Amino acid sequence: MAHRVYILMLFFIQILRTTGANTKVPAMIVFGDSSVDTGNNNFIPTIARCNFEPYGRDFPGGIPTGRFCNGRLSTDFLSESFGLKPTIPAYLDPAYSIADFATGVCFASSATGFDNATAGVLQVIPLWKELEFYKEYQRKLRAYLGVGKANKVIGEALYTVSLGTNDFIENYYAIPGGRQSQFTVQEYQDFLLGIAEDFLKKLYNLGARKISVTGIAPMGCLPVERTTDFMNNDYGCNEEHNNVALEFNGKMMSLLSKLNKELPGFRIVFADGYNILLDLIKKPSKFGFEVADMGCCGSGTFETGFLCTDLFTCTDANKFVFWDSVHPSEKANKIIANYLLTRYLKVFL
Ligand SMILES: *[C@@H]1O[C@H](CO)[C@@H](O)[C@H](O)[C@H]1NC(C)=O
Repeated sequence: MAHRVYILMLFFIQILRTTGANTKVPAMIVFGDSSVDTGNNNFIPTIARCNFEPYGRDFPGGIPTGRFCNGRLSTDFLSESFGLKPTIPAYLDPAYSIADFATGVCFASSATGFDNATAGVLQVIPLWKELEFYKEYQRKLRAYLGVGKANKVIGEALYTVSLGTNDFIENYYAIPGGRQSQFTVQEYQDFLLGIAEDFLKKLYNLGARKISVTGIAPMGCLPVERTTDFMNNDYGCNEEHNNVALEFNGKMMSLLSKLNKELPGFRIVFADGYNILLDLIKKPSKFGFEVADMGCCGSGTFETGFLCTDLFTCTDANKFVFWDSVHPSEKANKIIANYLLTRYLKVFL
């Protein structure tokens, strides 16, 4: 008898768990860099922005929003897949209010990194400041929805954290005498991961429970890196930099499984975008692309941000894996979003 009660209890606990796991995501909350910035840098004094043509050429209405893309970002597509808005508004954009942000908000800032010094290079928003904005958002959300409802949104929202690439391509490798003189590559990885751990724990303490962390991109294959890489191999990628990204991502994965064990109720997923982007780059035709080693905008070899102009820009960005020399095209972003959803984020649907 006791045995049967026990089995029955397990059965009910299982049902409760499953129900909890299927709770709908009421909002998407985004931290990171230009991979996910939907326009915050338009509202701070920095040159790291792109609120001008040809950016946004394929965005609804053809508007340059500040997204480093011809159209939408992977997080916009994910938001739509979760039944939320098709575009995630930037927190600093005065055109939006807490009513808009209640179902999705972006704190990301292009050209930022885990390292404060990375944000310092182009005077953008450091990660700690993104978190300060998030705390302010929580206060506004509680005032808007009431404490109970707001706390439910905070606990059930899906948080996306996408940054790290800039710490290497904009900072460590780009500034001789900077971090390179203080850290070996491995030490720098560990320094960044220490900041990541601190950030994720703070997010947990603020009530976040469902988190998706994207690792570093195959940075050695970004068109801008191919242009400056003199040790070209078959694919023309800087394999050393790719290996640093892979190594970092491996360490990130271990950190996340440690946090999953340490923090009760935390559901943190490593949504690894490395392999899908590398796939697009190595087998572009399999996905309907024609060009993977150059961006669509300008000469395709080095331009991003203000260097990217209409001059020489390709006519059909859908043929290109990369929109500019650093950032994927909208079509690539859509493929990446679908991959991340199917492979990693379905658990939150
Ligand atoms: C980054 O800057 C903030 C604000 O000055 C500071 O609180 C934080 O400790 C810094 N992070 C690191 C890792 O130095």
